[in-house]
Amino acid sequence: MATVELRNVRKKFGGHEVIHGIDLLIEDHEFMAFVGPSGCGKSTLLRMIAGLEEVTEGDVLIDGVPAQDVPPSQRGLAMVFQSYALYPHMTVAENMGFSLRLAGVPKAERDEKVRVVGRVLEMEALLERKPGQLSGGQLQRVAIGRAMVRQPKAFLLDEPLSNLDASLQGQMRLELARLHRELNTTMIYVTHDQLEAMTMADRIVVLNQGKVEQLGSPLELYQHPATLFVAGFIGAPKMNFLDAVVQSANNQTLRLTLSNGVGLVVPMPLEAPSPGEKLKLGIRPEHLTLEELPGMGPAPVSPSDAVLQGEVEVLEHLGPRAYLHTRMVDETRLVAQTDGDTQVRIGHQVALRIRSESTHLFNALGKALARPSTP
Ligand SMILES: Nc1ncnc2c1ncn2[C@@H]1O[C@H](COP(=O)(O)OP(=O)(O)O)[C@@H](O)[C@H]1O
Ligand SMILES: [Mg+2]
Repeated sequence: MATVELRNVRKKFGGHEVIHGIDLLIEDHEFMAFVGPSGCGKSTLLRMIAGLEEVTEGDVLIDGVPAQDVPPSQRGLAMVFQSYALYPHMTVAENMGFSLRLAGVPKAERDEKVRVVGRVLEMEALLERKPGQLSGGQLQRVAIGRAMVRQPKAFLLDEPLSNLDASLQGQMRLELARLHRELNTTMIYVTHDQLEAMTMADRIVVLNQGKVEQLGSPLELYQHPATLFVAGFIGAPKMNFLDAVVQSANNQTLRLTLSNGVGLVVPMPLEAPSPGEKLKLGIRPEHLTLEELPGMGPAPVSPSDAVLQGEVEVLEHLGPRAYLHTRMVDETRLVAQTDGDTQVRIGHQVALRIRSESTHLFNALGKALARPSTP
């Protein structure tokens, strides 16, 4: 059990700063994900927590105690990497028990711990095999088991699923979530894959160029992205963005004109932008509705919504739903989600309704204009 706290943590390589002052408290038992594009500083941050990388400025505290002078082996943390780095000549059981052997734990106790972990990971039948006889998913489970036998205060995982194929990743996500519930241990999980963070984490830190963009639960980030960056990073397919200009504002609503001249009335943000101000309007694929489906009447009309016309360029069938990749008449491209059994085909002309109450607004600095309902 451990809390991990970062206080104004900075990291420089040579003279070049790559982590620009991060404050963060990871709660006991929490599954925290660090997510962001390659090179944003996720691994560096994790390695500073582990003690594998020196902290240039600021403090890392584990259970409230500054970790600065605590060597990695004494921090009570266990790391799992993308590469499993197992000893090929040792069995699974020997690999998992190796760190205990180094620590001088007697054989009977070691065997017992390995047996328990093998049972939790459902790999008892594999304990006498060598790594060469295992699949990628099994190898990664051994690497996790090797961390588990040490009964760490917290697990630090750096892109542990990146080497696995997609279906195995899906399975391992569920296993890791189950494992976290069973072990009830703090986990810090680094990934560039927003889906992994969204599906497993209690809270997610979105990092961009060595800074925290936003911290929140998966749904908070999805429903109330604080920045354009988070809005574009969390969710797949991505949120659509359109250029908009403020026409006028009253108490409750904001009148906008999109770059193609179409007008739209949206709920008023807490801070009213001024007329003439340029904004980005964001709308998720599931909040764009096909205006008229063949054989059906028009969708319910709200006078504030905007309807844009275009041609379907690509149609992605996912079974339960489909995505229409549409080129609008003004050449902007929008992705709309629709039913899996849609009658729409590539080349069809469609009209997409932007549901005004589901729009997001961002100012020129990329900051979201929060609405009153936003937490
Ligand atoms: N040992 C190092 N020496 C110099 N620069 C480094 C070193 N490790 C990482 N960096 C730089 O720090 C930044 C963050 O890297 P990293 O933490 O590995 O990113 P991520 O894990 O998010 O992909 C990158 O610009 C990377 O080039
Ligand atoms: Mg990395």
